Amino acid sequence: MRLQNKVIIVTGSTTGIGKAIALRCVAEGARVVIHGLEQNLGDDVVKTIGKEKAALHIEDISAAGSPQRLVNKALDAFGKIDAVVNNAALVVSSDIQSTDEAFFKNVLNINTIAPFLLIQSALPHLKKTKGCVLNIGSVNAWSGEPNLLAYSVSKGALMTMTRNLGDTLHREAGVRVNQINPGWVLTENETQRKKDHGLPTDWYTKLSKVYAPAGRILKPEEIAAAAIYWLADESGPISGQVVDLEQHPFIGRNPPKDSSSIDR
Ligand SMILES: NC(=O)c1ccc[n+]([C@@H]2O[C@H](COP(=O)([O-])OP(=O)(O)OC[C@H]3O[C@@H](n4cnc5c(N)ncnc54)[C@H](O)[C@@H]3O)[C@@H](O)[C@H]2O)c1
Repeated sequence: MRLQNKVIIVTGSTTGIGKAIALRCVAEGARVVIHGLEQNLGDDVVKTIGKEKAALHIEDISAAGSPQRLVNKALDAFGKIDAVVNNAALVVSSDIQSTDEAFFKNVLNINTIAPFLLIQSALPHLKKTKGCVLNIGSVNAWSGEPNLLAYSVSKGALMTMTRNLGDTLHREAGVRVNQINPGWVLTENETQRKKDHGLPTDWYTKLSKVYAPAGRILKPEEIAAAAIYWLADESGPISGQVVDLEQHPFIGRNPPKDSSSIDR
């Protein structure tokens, strides 16, 4: 019960990592606002948790006024806000040729600006509870895969925002801001995305040890377990931190270039 009596907004919690974080928050004693685009999936999550511990808000986070309405939903349902998890994101492929202006702006609106606006809207309420923010970035924030150009830039900007606000808001408002950068996680949508990109149906069972030393990629529950530490009072005054959660170091890595990693 590390989150006893806390009220937590988890964006993008109708599925995947967000859903796993929301379920784990409730298991640790919190009440949650489930949020995302899919009404049916959201209804299922609320049913699993129970209406006394979960409220549902289905809306595009990039729509005008949407972050404030999400905050209002939490206040109407539970009367306060202890934490915001900015997890919702548009995970889309693009490169220098395919990233046009409208596409780029849409990715930034959803992945970077909407999290900022949600923090801004929640701030008066987080101040009252000495609450915190957890942003869910990506290891792609550091540079990113070639075909994840706009997405990687959006997560890099989110990471700078975490460090900037993690300093300012902590000093000025007593509100901590931290970030988890997940590595490769096997969510329902990630399973499908890779199939759409031409990989075989069972792609996740046949990964090179370069990407998956454990023989598998991460589970959403493993990201959720780490999220609890940052949302709980046990992380104390720590703020402005960005933690990579991958099964190998990301920065500075230099994997072997031999028969263990290169197909002949
Ligand atoms: N799966 C991975 O391998 C991986 C790796 C690194 C980082 N991440 C990050 O983790 C987070 C969750 O990823 P996931 O794989 O679980 O995603 P997912 O695609 O399974 O779920 C995305 C969630 O966000 C919501 N969402 C998307 N666009 C939205 C919008 N415009 N308005 C409101 N809600 C919206 C969806 O409804 C859904 O609930 C994202 O921030 C993603 O960038 C994922």
